[in-house]
Amino acid sequence: MTPPEPPKSEISPRLRAWLAFYEDLGLTPTVRRAKPDTREGQPLALDEPAPVAALVEPVRPKQALPLPSMAAPPAATLSLFEEAPARAERETLDDIRTDLGECQRCKLAPHRKHIVFGVGDPKAQLVFVGEGPGAEEDLQGLPFVGRAGRLLTQWIESLGLKREQVYICNVIKCRPPQNRTPGRDEIESCSPFLLRQLDAIRPKLICALGSVALQMLMGKAASITRLRGQVFDFRGTKLVATFHPAYILRNPPADRDVRKDLQVIRQLLA
Ligand code: URA
Repeated sequence: MTPPEPPKSEISPRLRAWLAFYEDLGLTPTVRRAKPDTREGQPLALDEPAPVAALVEPVRPKQALPLPSMAAPPAATLSLFEEAPARAERETLDDIRTDLGECQRCKLAPHRKHIVFGVGDPKAQLVFVGEGPGAEEDLQGLPFVGRAGRLLTQWIESLGLKREQVYICNVIKCRPPQNRTPGRDEIESCSPFLLRQLDAIRPKLICALGSVALQMLMGKAASITRLRGQVFDFRGTKLVATFHPAYILRNPPADRDVRKDLQVIRQLLA
């Protein structure tokens, strides 16, 4: 039997933050007391960081993610947990870009120079999803054109591909001031457009770059360090995450892990 939800006061601040993240994505996480660990004869404490998976039930959407107003909506809503639509029902990237327009849906709009929609082959087998544009991307209106972008290009070429053969985009399409991490409200307004882009392309494989992209695509709190290199299902498409190139620029030794993740990607594309 499922144990009852513990009072809010017993939930650690860290877990509360994760729950808020889920809720802002329109999901309904359920917290329950951990079942007693019969091997140890001791119940798990709610504050222990490791057994998060044991504390958070598999998330299901409370309601599908709301789509911003659209000229010709393909469906009223999109859900992280449903299969992408069949080819005949799909929009094109141009349709989605037109619908995005001169977006004013969140508070980032007044700060941006350009919307960074995405670039690459609309029929790409491989899509990279980053976090959000930086200064250079904002100036050029193109994703991953700064230092991190040059490293990403090297990764793409190490897969035997050219940049033009993949599609590159971000969770959010406008640069946050001072390159801060995107807020939940910003992710919520922008991510439906990313989902529509992924549905339009329907690649063989999505590579999430860093934890913001991974968490958005998984619809839940997730550790990039723990989950990188593993293969997940995202609405019928394979999903693999690796570290963000900007992180590797700051922590070059972690490049070793990225190489392993790129091997996984190479095998999945073969
Ligand atoms: N970092 C990102 O996450 N995206 C970009 O487009 C550039 C840097």
